[in-house]
Amino acid sequence: MSMYGINGKPFVNLSEYVDLTDFDKLHPTICRNFIEAKEHMYVGTFYAPEDFLRMDAYDKNLKSLLSAHYEFMGLPDDDPIKINGSDLSPNDLATYLKFALKGYDPYSFFLLYDYKENWRDDPSVDGTLESGKYFPELLSWVHSLKDKGIFSHIGRVVLFLVDHGGIRIQHSHHGYPLPDPYYPSSSEDIVEFMLIQKSSDAKTFFVSDSEHNKFYFDSRVTWFNDKDWHGGDPLLYSSYSLRIDGVFTDDLKNKICR
Ligand SMILES: [Fe+2]
Repeated sequence: MSMYGINGKPFVNLSEYVDLTDFDKLHPTICRNFIEAKEHMYVGTFYAPEDFLRMDAYDKNLKSLLSAHYEFMGLPDDDPIKINGSDLSPNDLATYLKFALKGYDPYSFFLLYDYKENWRDDPSVDGTLESGKYFPELLSWVHSLKDKGIFSHIGRVVLFLVDHGGIRIQHSHHGYPLPDPYYPSSSEDIVEFMLIQKSSDAKTFFVSDSEHNKFYFDSRVTWFNDKDWHGGDPLLYSSYSLRIDGVFTDDLKNKICR
């Protein structure tokens, strides 16, 4: 087995420290917020480096949206596929490439909150983005994790929506997206974040090693090394997960490492 891991483990179960009771109560609100905020939703990922995805883990007939976009960009200008897709918005182009070139990507996402200058130094820095204004209750819950001694600072918050039946293609964050543009980091750093999943989804998400062995999560709230390959098996229903990046408190880190 070869993987980065955390403290010699494939992932860290945080359920002992993070109470999801109030998060779960927000479920109907969050689902409604998806509709209200739809103008701010991003469809799929297709501006990442080509090696962002681990396609050799899948049947060769599975073509990622990312790959379809590279294929699209490489078409000659007089190709009908290129002509018909050339003036589309990013979201419309994503949908177009799913049909026109079989690009596969079950994800959509909302970036609710993002790194802002001085976010680690000044507690009054507010990284709420336009889309985050549609999810006030959820962001309030995220910030309550500071009062509960989990995070000292919140840097970025992303909601990932996945279509029913969707394979969450394995990927790894080797420098994409930038973990934090405002503070120096090295490739050795382990990005501090948690991934929260809906109740029954956790056991379908995993990290995997160089030999393609999968280590399925045993909890709904998990920290893992995002340089390791990670992905999820298909779900038979549409669902979502929440990723919160920030700075863990020393107290939490001490508990995790003990
Ligand atoms: Fe990821």
